[in-house]
Amino acid sequence: MAFREEIWEAAKNKQSNIVLALDLPFEKPQNRQALYERAAKIIDAVSPHICAVKFNHHLVLPLGVFNGVQKLIEKAHEHDLPTIMDCKVNDIGDTNRIIAEYYFEAGFNALIANPFVGWEEGLKPVFEIAKKRGGGVILLVYMSHKGASEGYGQTIIDESGTKAPQYVAFARKALQWNADGVVVGATYPEKIKEVHAILNGKIPIYSPGVGVQGGEIESAIKAGAFYLIVGRAITLAENPSATAGKIKNLAWNLLTKSC
Ligand code: XMP
Repeated sequence: MAFREEIWEAAKNKQSNIVLALDLPFEKPQNRQALYERAAKIIDAVSPHICAVKFNHHLVLPLGVFNGVQKLIEKAHEHDLPTIMDCKVNDIGDTNRIIAEYYFEAGFNALIANPFVGWEEGLKPVFEIAKKRGGGVILLVYMSHKGASEGYGQTIIDESGTKAPQYVAFARKALQWNADGVVVGATYPEKIKEVHAILNGKIPIYSPGVGVQGGEIESAIKAGAFYLIVGRAITLAENPSATAGKIKNLAWNLLTKSC
């Protein structure tokens, strides 16, 4: 099954459009085992309330891709949850291809990539590898943090000579390249709305930034976000399962009402 269908299947089964960002605070390398166990426990506890698990350097660096992380990927898969690597691929094509090969080889179902590097000798090899392995590619369009306006919000002259905001050009590229998803921060509902209008329902919007970064579930979904990426609000909660359950109920109700 292709990634887009896979995550949607998981969402329907769990009645959840929440992607867990499995991020935990820094630990000394000697505490790797405890870090692994904490991450594994969170997956087990919140698995009924989420539709996918997103990994970041928080676990890849201390645990290693073919060690602890691969075991966590397997655990997520046992719970019928696809996995996403938030590696924001951003290099020359040959390097990007190797990055993608390793992450897909480890079992990841999708990668996040940065369209700033362009297509030829940029992201083209990533899309090729993803296609060959049945994986997905999700593109950054407008990030969730404050400084996003300095890059993603710049006004540019696109290849056709037309003035456009950078994120609008990226949303158009997502359509052109047939991306499996785009990322627009939940902290910018007005940008979600604009990108949603461009994508016209053809590509789902993933929105990080709910909770700790100040984004709101309701405004993000009403603006057109489909999946919400939630990290610390769940992973650092006293009761991650109960918190994930509450977030899921609110988000799923809003999503199913708006569809
Ligand atoms: P929190 O704890 O803020 O975690 O809920 C959010 C997670 O998502 C990542 N993040 C992003 N990833 N584009 C991305 O691809 C973004 O705009 C973006 N904003 C946040 C963040 O690193 C963390 O893993």
